[in-house]
Amino acid sequence: MRSEENEFVKAEEEAAALAAKVESESKPKEYVDEKLAEQLKSLVISPEVVSGPVVGNHAEEAAHHHHCDCGCEDHDELHKHHDFWNKQPVVMPGKHVGKEFNNPIHIDLKAEDVPKEPVPLPKGYSWTTVDITNATELQEMFKLLEDNYVEDDDNMFRFDYAVEFLRWALMVPGAFPKWNVGIRDTREGIKGTALYNQLVGVITGIPVTVRIHDRVVRMAEINFLCVHKNLRSLKLAPMLIQEVTRQVHLCGMFQAVYTAGVTLPTPFTEARYYHRSLNPKKLVEVGFSSLSRTMTIARAVKLYRLPEKTALVGLRPMEATDVPAVHKLLTQYLAKFDVAFVYTPEEVEHFFLPRPGVMNSYVVEDPTTHALTAFGSFYSLPSTILNNQKHNRLNAAYLYYCVNTRGPISAVVSDLLILAKELKYDVFNCLELMDNATFLKDLKFGPGDGTLHYYFFNWAMPQISPDKLGLVLV
Ligand SMILES: CC(C)(COP(=O)(O)OP(=O)(O)OC[C@H]1O[C@@H](n2cnc3c(N)ncnc32)[C@H](O)[C@@H]1OP(=O)(O)O)[C@@H](O)C(=O)NCCC(=O)NCCS
Repeated sequence: MRSEENEFVKAEEEAAALAAKVESESKPKEYVDEKLAEQLKSLVISPEVVSGPVVGNHAEEAAHHHHCDCGCEDHDELHKHHDFWNKQPVVMPGKHVGKEFNNPIHIDLKAEDVPKEPVPLPKGYSWTTVDITNATELQEMFKLLEDNYVEDDDNMFRFDYAVEFLRWALMVPGAFPKWNVGIRDTREGIKGTALYNQLVGVITGIPVTVRIHDRVVRMAEINFLCVHKNLRSLKLAPMLIQEVTRQVHLCGMFQAVYTAGVTLPTPFTEARYYHRSLNPKKLVEVGFSSLSRTMTIARAVKLYRLPEKTALVGLRPMEATDVPAVHKLLTQYLAKFDVAFVYTPEEVEHFFLPRPGVMNSYVVEDPTTHALTAFGSFYSLPSTILNNQKHNRLNAAYLYYCVNTRGPISAVVSDLLILAKELKYDVFNCLELMDNATFLKDLKFGPGDGTLHYYFFNWAMPQISPDKLGLVLV
């Protein structure tokens, strides 16, 4: 464990001890009292300031929209009533978007139409900008996520993004500091305790360029939405979303892309997660995988065994001098998808150069011409294992982007598996987007329970299939 984490654990323990003392001495038992809950729930979410809708997307219409003939799989989920989302410029379920339609839902706001102030928070809570260039504040964000971020349906695992990962994901070229929005607990009653001013909510944005068919849009990529477990169901999430939206608007951008495991109005595509065991014994021990009736541990170990050495001649870690060539490979590859990121060389340098414990990127260099013919990368996203005696951390590698100009991408991914195994990852994950479906079976990936939904804010277009998608959000 890194020393900064140790220190933080100590500080946490002190804070917890102090909090317990304060609570037993004077404070109400519940962290959130009933009155506060009522106050929070009664706060009206003001709809976006909107000008004439381009597609028929009126909130009222959507709210009264009880049935449709869309025949969608997720029908009940999709048609659930959404107090907040039904008032946002997003495609409403069941709304037909014309085949050629590829436009904003609402026209850009004028500067004077963007609210000057954030939506008011309930008493005792304050808006903050999380300064991620400040190690202490980044650590606070890390801790909030470590304890409260995404868990699987059975609450066995929770994502544990490393501090260095957050730095990488958020301190990107052209980042806007104000797009890292937080909520602090500044209730009078806890003044003077270590809990005072604690970060209890966060949402982040980075600027990205996305090509949607033939249109290229500079927009926000929204991530790391998280509310402290003790403050759930109080509509703080919509407030965070509104505030980050306001900050994005203030920078003259009116679209966003985001992903979620949950179904909201309305995904433009969805992709299933696939998993490739690297350490089957541990995966079974922690309940990530289960053995079928005819499978034993010994058989699973044999089934998932990998060669010791990689197969591609000329495979090596990516270096700074490879940036122009990787930029070219990636740009050419992403051009074939309907929706994909457009990267600048600076962004390629930022996102793809290897970073220990965060990003692993490899290139294949032709031994004779020295040209780069392939590229493959994966990022590191461990999970905390909740309630297991033997293990507390699942080391997962996630496939990022992979390009091969001299053969199938399976040849590159096959070597990435070997490299990931060598780096002690337990499992290699990927989504069934881009060309990933072509190698899943051969490389022994199995489908998981999770599906990732992709959304645009203020953009409407017909849905696409995931093999037309060239966007990986971390
Ligand atoms: C996601 C999270 C912030 C939502 O907060 P919450 O306290 O459960 O919900 P709130 O009462 O604040 O808000 C509810 C609204 O937020 C919406 N919402 C919930 N999760 C959302 C998500 N991931 N993205 C966008 N909106 C979301 C709900 O749909 C609902 O709006 P609706 O009435 O229009 O449907 C919180 O559950 C959390 O921190 N979960 C763990 C981390 C996580 O899953 N983050 C999202 C990763 S994509």
